[in-house]
Amino acid sequence: MGKKVKIGIIGCGTIGSVHADSYAKVENAELVALCDILPDRLAEKAKRHQVAKTYADYKKLLADPAIEAVSICTPNDVHAPIAIAAFKAGKHVMLEKPMTLNAGLGRKILAARDSAGKQLQMGMVWRQTPEAEVVKESIAAGRLGDIYHIHVKLIRRRGIPGLGGWFTTKAKSGGGGLIDIAVHFFDLAMWTSGLWNPTKVSAKTYSKFGSPMKDYHYISMWAGPPKYDGTFDVDDFACGFIRFGDKATMSFEVAWACNSEEESYVEFLGTKGGVKVGRGQTTILTEVDNRIADVKLSYPTEADRFTMEMRKFVDAVQGRGKVAATGEEGVVVMRLLDAIYKSGETNSEVTV
Ligand SMILES: NC(=O)c1ccc[n+]([C@@H]2O[C@H](COP(=O)([O-])OP(=O)(O)OC[C@H]3O[C@@H](n4cnc5c(N)ncnc54)[C@H](O)[C@@H]3O)[C@@H](O)[C@H]2O)c1
Repeated sequence: MGKKVKIGIIGCGTIGSVHADSYAKVENAELVALCDILPDRLAEKAKRHQVAKTYADYKKLLADPAIEAVSICTPNDVHAPIAIAAFKAGKHVMLEKPMTLNAGLGRKILAARDSAGKQLQMGMVWRQTPEAEVVKESIAAGRLGDIYHIHVKLIRRRGIPGLGGWFTTKAKSGGGGLIDIAVHFFDLAMWTSGLWNPTKVSAKTYSKFGSPMKDYHYISMWAGPPKYDGTFDVDDFACGFIRFGDKATMSFEVAWACNSEEESYVEFLGTKGGVKVGRGQTTILTEVDNRIADVKLSYPTEADRFTMEMRKFVDAVQGRGKVAATGEEGVVVMRLLDAIYKSGETNSEVTV
């Protein structure tokens, strides 16, 4: 076994633990430090993940010369300051989604990465689903023909996370369901199809279920329980239409909460075939020998998405491969989100 990359995780909430469990399965990674501003959580997670070093202040973790790379798993508003400080301290960065609050801050992260000459991987874990890889290969091989429309549907019936906490406070999150979950499927749509040039957006965001908070009825809550004395000032539904020049279009509906059945997929419509990528869906609707045909692609199902993501990051740090999702791609997604919010606010089509 070769030398291990020594890792620190900043932000020990729900996804911080997923990163810790995943690094434990990556042969060339060693989790050596954790950081969180909540002392009880930090102590509990250090015990759970058997990590000796703990820091209440991320700047102290970044000053530790033994640490080569960090995972940033904090609320969205501190992604940029921590990532920039990490690069200044000479660390490689695995940055959870969304990249940050807006594209301008995203570009600052890129500039810091370039000055440091270190690796930046974005946390776009949906790319690690085997069905997405299989469909990406099919599209690249021309089996779907020209992709001219993409349909993103990501509907939770009652899925607002951390009601009243940072997720639903715009100053900390940058927005609601759009920046929290649509970010995954916009990245997936552009990565799978290769359409990385969104040009125009006409969209609308709504906020219909999260406030008043006491009237929100739900079955389970990520990052709960609700903080009824907190804030809800973000979107819980968004829809819109995106142009990729005159080559292709994308329509989307995204809900943290709405009165509709739960659904989640990215559908690609091509001249030779169409396919939906979602959990376990990879049937290409096509023609074979001039007959209408459904071609079911098989793929391995055991893959652990987060472990694959962390393994690719560690491989990139050790020079064995490329990061799984780049900062440049992260900025394209942020530009798209900025345009969607602006279009909703101005009730007009805007340039991305
Ligand atoms: N890839 C995915 O599928 C996925 C899933 C969930 C969350 N996320 C992203 O991960 C991030 C964290 O989400 P979560 O659900 O784990 O949230 P969380 O609230 O459970 O955890 C965030 C943690 O960060 C800590 N924190 C806050 N400010 C800090 C600071 N300055 N320094 C150190 N620690 C700090 C908090 O105390 C908390 O423990 C968000 O950006 C979210 O969008 C990604």
